[in-house]
Amino acid sequence: MSARHFLSLMDCTPQELIDLVRRGIELKDLRKRGVLFEPLKNRVLGMIFEKASTRTRVSFEAGMIQLGGQAIFLSTRDTQLGRGEPVCDSAIVLSSMLDAVMIRTFAHSTLTEFAAHSVAPVINGLSDDLHPCQLMADMQTFHEHRGSIAGKTVAWIGDGNNMCNSYIEAAMQFDFQLRVACPEGYEPNAELMAQAGDRVQLLRDPRAAAEGAHLISTDVWASMGQEDEVAARIATFRPYQVDRALLDVAAPNVLFMHCLPAHRGEEISEDLLDDPRSVAWDQAENRLHVQKALLEFLVEPAYHHA
Ligand code: CP
Ligand code: NVA
Repeated sequence: MSARHFLSLMDCTPQELIDLVRRGIELKDLRKRGVLFEPLKNRVLGMIFEKASTRTRVSFEAGMIQLGGQAIFLSTRDTQLGRGEPVCDSAIVLSSMLDAVMIRTFAHSTLTEFAAHSVAPVINGLSDDLHPCQLMADMQTFHEHRGSIAGKTVAWIGDGNNMCNSYIEAAMQFDFQLRVACPEGYEPNAELMAQAGDRVQLLRDPRAAAEGAHLISTDVWASMGQEDEVAARIATFRPYQVDRALLDVAAPNVLFMHCLPAHRGEEISEDLLDDPRSVAWDQAENRLHVQKALLEFLVEPAYHHA
């Protein structure tokens, strides 16, 4: 199939990713200035959700409307996907009607299978393995506050989950050093670690990971689909809480990011999102802007009048 997909940060070149970040900043400026920009008029994005979402759903839906198009929310609870219609059949049918499809799913293979049968671009809105759209927002946010992230040191504290895996890909694509501090048994994807080589360092001590870092990021200790593990994970991850004292050992101009939703008192201290070093709200807002850049990049402009 000829469509260009965005299932992982590795689906773009480093230059394309930097251009998307820059375009996200431009589109943000257009919106702040109240300029109408509707290149995707009559274009329709389908959004398939197997899991809950606030930011991903609203940013994609609002983004499509702002670009002049529309978005359709498709829950697996009330489509035939939830009743066992094969992913490949759904991909053929849905992509024949839509201009792009965003999917939030459990198994990453659902995305790759859908993409293999889709004539429309497919965007990963989070899988158990990766969350590339969030990383684009994180990169835009860093760029806005501190300029290029190339050559900087980033510390990931906590679970080696989908966000952590995408940070490993970001380290390769945006050219920064990544230190991952996680408990034993909660490491990120081993293949990605191997691919990243000495760009990524695995540590057990959050303090050692945070020392001198320019960006510290964390996420929930139990991701969607791990609800049964919450109690055990809270006990294991307790030493990995990010608080102001941990930010104090980082570089003086460190930024703190959290993809949200957050659990205050668990992976972050109660007060961390109020710390001036936290840019979590900008990070959330930038989902909108950088995904609009992504949609503009992936979805062809509307047909001209006949
Ligand atoms: N960060 C993020 O993806 O948030 P939602 O789960 O609310 O979409
Ligand atoms: N790791 C989290 C991210 C939520 C945006 C999850 O998968 O639930």
